[in-house]
Amino acid sequence: MIRKEKNYFIISTERSSYIFRVLETGHIDHVMYGARIDDTEGLDYVSESFDLNIGTVPYYDEEHPHLFPDRILSEYPVPGSGDTRECALELDYGNGTETMTLLFRDYRIYKGKDNSFPAHAECDEETETLEVRLSDEVLPITVVINYTVYEKEDVILRSARIINGTDHCVRLKRAASLSIDFPYDDFDLISFDGAWARERNEHRRHLLPGITVLDSKLGTSSNEHSPLAYIVRRTTGEVYGFNLIYSGNHMEAFDVSPFGKTRVTTGINPFMFEWMLESGESFQTPEAVITYAGSLDDAALSFHHFINRYIVRGEWQYRERPVLINNWEATYFALSEEKLLALADKAAELGFELFVLDDGWFGDRRNDTKGLGDWTVSHEVFPNGLEAFSEKIHERGLKFGIWVEPEMVNPDSDLFRTHPEWAIMIPGRKPAISRHQLVLDMSRPDVREYLYTSLEKVFSAASVDYVKWDMNRTITDCFSSSSECRGNGELMHRYILGIYDLMGRLVKRFPSVLFESCASGGNRYDLGMLCFMPQTWTSDNTDLYHRLWIQEGTLRGFPQSTMGAHVSASPGHQSLRCSLIESRFDVAAFGTLGYELDLTKLSETDQKAVKGEIEFYKRYRKVFQYGDFRPLPSENDESIWWSVTLEGTTIAMEMVKRNMPNTGRCDRLRLPFLKKGRMYRIRNRRIIMPREFFGDHWQSWNREENEKMDIRVAGDIITTCGIALGPQFAGNGFFKETRPIGDNGTRMYVIEEI
Ligand code: GLA
Repeated sequence: MIRKEKNYFIISTERSSYIFRVLETGHIDHVMYGARIDDTEGLDYVSESFDLNIGTVPYYDEEHPHLFPDRILSEYPVPGSGDTRECALELDYGNGTETMTLLFRDYRIYKGKDNSFPAHAECDEETETLEVRLSDEVLPITVVINYTVYEKEDVILRSARIINGTDHCVRLKRAASLSIDFPYDDFDLISFDGAWARERNEHRRHLLPGITVLDSKLGTSSNEHSPLAYIVRRTTGEVYGFNLIYSGNHMEAFDVSPFGKTRVTTGINPFMFEWMLESGESFQTPEAVITYAGSLDDAALSFHHFINRYIVRGEWQYRERPVLINNWEATYFALSEEKLLALADKAAELGFELFVLDDGWFGDRRNDTKGLGDWTVSHEVFPNGLEAFSEKIHERGLKFGIWVEPEMVNPDSDLFRTHPEWAIMIPGRKPAISRHQLVLDMSRPDVREYLYTSLEKVFSAASVDYVKWDMNRTITDCFSSSSECRGNGELMHRYILGIYDLMGRLVKRFPSVLFESCASGGNRYDLGMLCFMPQTWTSDNTDLYHRLWIQEGTLRGFPQSTMGAHVSASPGHQSLRCSLIESRFDVAAFGTLGYELDLTKLSETDQKAVKGEIEFYKRYRKVFQYGDFRPLPSENDESIWWSVTLEGTTIAMEMVKRNMPNTGRCDRLRLPFLKKGRMYRIRNRRIIMPREFFGDHWQSWNREENEKMDIRVAGDIITTCGIALGPQFAGNGFFKETRPIGDNGTRMYVIEEI
């Protein structure tokens, strides 16, 4: 709900309010963002923007000696006129000056939202937008700031449009999507950082005076620092979440001022960015997504609900995602039709639904040094063509998926030999190489046209049901020969606009195809990609232990339905860690499940296990993909995850022991968020223990009766005391789990309200 009361704008969701006002000078003054407020009596006494003049802080003018730009709680701060904190906008008028004073002009409140940015959240009849127009005191430069409210999800979107009303070109150097000032400085920052194979690991630190920056300069939203971040007030535990609907270079700055205030700025990274804004032109920023909640779990759930409803769209919205087998780690580049069909046969037998043909099916791509860019099937691998292969996959009752990496080119490819000017590199300078490849200039319409035509042909001829869209290097050597780029500072952003244009066209042409984005795993896991592609490959690292952090970090901001999670071989290819296939499944099950290993090489016990896992997953798929996910604070070296269906009836949870202590300590299953006053039935997932380890010894708990055995527990008991599961070494609790749980061992339970 958005309303204007006197000079106040009040934006409310079910559980939060966001308030700012217009001062008599026209300055915008942020008042509060926090728990919902309905009674506004006394609001005039809340703002801290006026202060006593201590020392040498500049004030606005002689008539307003108590208005200090450096202390005002601003909504879109500009530089040069006294506010020395991080600014939202930087614009060179053409003569080197940048000073601005933005003042209120008018506003509009309307249903829905207008947004021309190609990756944006959807809206419906419940959505409302407030548009506030500000302009410079002297020059006709207008900034329109937008607030779109999603009441049920407790989410607000912010974005800005900069309009050049002067009669000449101005140079935009920075245009943030969001700037918000908090009158506190007691925040912890939670960020999600990493690199290849260790994406989105959660880090928490105190914010201290000065500026803390998270950003990406890689050309992608990056695996180094995600645009997802939270700040938590240490004194109250209140949480503010931030994310960005954008896939390129971004920056989140947290500026703690000497006056006890904290400014958060998010948006396109000003690093190597500029945009030439001709007279009459405007620049639209991507949307920033914010939420407020009393706890981190609740804030994450608000993001999950918002993403499932307004970011993921089209035929796959809220739809259960198929269980897939991907051949990458089963074959790497050693592809043959025979081997792939044997894999498909086994997959069909074990209950898989989708077969994904990964890298190496096209051109001269027999290894990763050549062929990228040449999107025609290799007859060496598929003597009968791709159509015939796809038909064989379909005949086996499986859907057919394919891997592509459209944005890239190997210098050793026909495409590069024909169009060297399509690759991003600087004339006369040797470009940096990564994985033997260069990046195609997606700002060029001719590049996009080539890719659209080639991919359209492949997808339609081979009746493709699923596409894995990869992107395996970052962007360096910024230079574009495109006539659209007015200066190289535009390239990184135009690249992203180009990607959105190409993806948008392909997704429109193939509305039933399930697209999954990937960038060497999770180097571009963001809300921009999810506007086009409903899933993302989370990480190339499928080690169950490392995945605890990767998946838990990812789920802090993105729902399970978007998170590709696969079971791979043991020893694992990234870690050489050995683990039970049942435990690998228990971890991967909390996302969109796939396997990428050679099923034909699995022992009979493991094949039986996989079949059971897939059956189990399909039965509870809705819980795993769309349930409310919460990790429990871990104690005793364990991770507890659980997911509850929206109806609140079914819960699945699991536990991983990182290191099995030899203490005989008894585990307890306590789920504080179940409902008191209700009755629950708890069962454990029956698993198959490898006979190779134990022969017939310790197989007793494998019997059918064990699965049927269930216990009834009152909500009061499970929320407060928890139930004893039995000692970890050779459990013999209520479930008769007479087995060692082992390092990284898991147990999974189904808990249903009765
Ligand atoms: C990237 C992806 C992998 C795989 C390979 C193929 O690394 O993340 O999943 O598709 O490329 O080359």
